[in-house]
Amino acid sequence: MTTPSRAPNYPILPQFTERWSPRAFADKPVTEEQVLTVLEAARWAPSASNLQPWRFFYGVKGQPEFDTLLSLLIPFNEGWAKNAGALIFVTSVKTFDGERQNITNSFDAGSAFMSLSLQAHALGLVAHGMAGIEYDKAPIVLELPENLKVEAAVAIGYQGDVSTLADFLQPREAPSQRQALSDMAFKGKFTGDLKAPV
Ligand SMILES: Cc1cc2nc3c(=O)[nH]c(=O)nc-3n(C[C@H](O)[C@H](O)[C@H](O)COP(=O)(O)O)c2cc1C
Repeated sequence: MTTPSRAPNYPILPQFTERWSPRAFADKPVTEEQVLTVLEAARWAPSASNLQPWRFFYGVKGQPEFDTLLSLLIPFNEGWAKNAGALIFVTSVKTFDGERQNITNSFDAGSAFMSLSLQAHALGLVAHGMAGIEYDKAPIVLELPENLKVEAAVAIGYQGDVSTLADFLQPREAPSQRQALSDMAFKGKFTGDLKAPV
């Protein structure tokens, strides 16, 4: 449901404001079928020249791959993401054929992330993106070739009760707001400033 803090100024599809990134996960398993379903949504994301540069690595809780991916998160994220039902690492191909530079690989992988997030939402799951990754360690542990870039990780699961979170995280467990559209959309030339929202 759209919370008051997430009331859009223009009439958009409800999933854009209903989707958010909780950290509390319920003790309810996520199936491999569900993970593959959200990745199927990501598969259909658009990409420059249809190069589909995204490459996903996933693990379902209770299986060794989950623990491997969990060990690649920074301690802050590991602390709450250990309760997720599945983890996904999003990587992208920097070059094809060893020479064809792909300058939109990260942009395209971001589209795939949003697709999988919205598909998770449609399945009654939540997806929480994470850049808090051990970026030096991940390529080694995942045995990535040189031209695969680690973009971000995603924790997937059923939303849990806020009381299951560490005390310091509980006040942060709420849907966030956004800057005004007028601070990010310009008709023609740039007329704004680049101050961070917080
Ligand atoms: C690429 C990316 C990296 C993020 N990294 C982290 C992270 O390391 N840890 C964390 O708790 N949240 C992380 N987040 C969640 C953002 O803080 C969150 O998406 C943002 O505050 C907007 O809130 P919402 O997703 O609930 O709308 C990340 C989100 C994205 C998209």
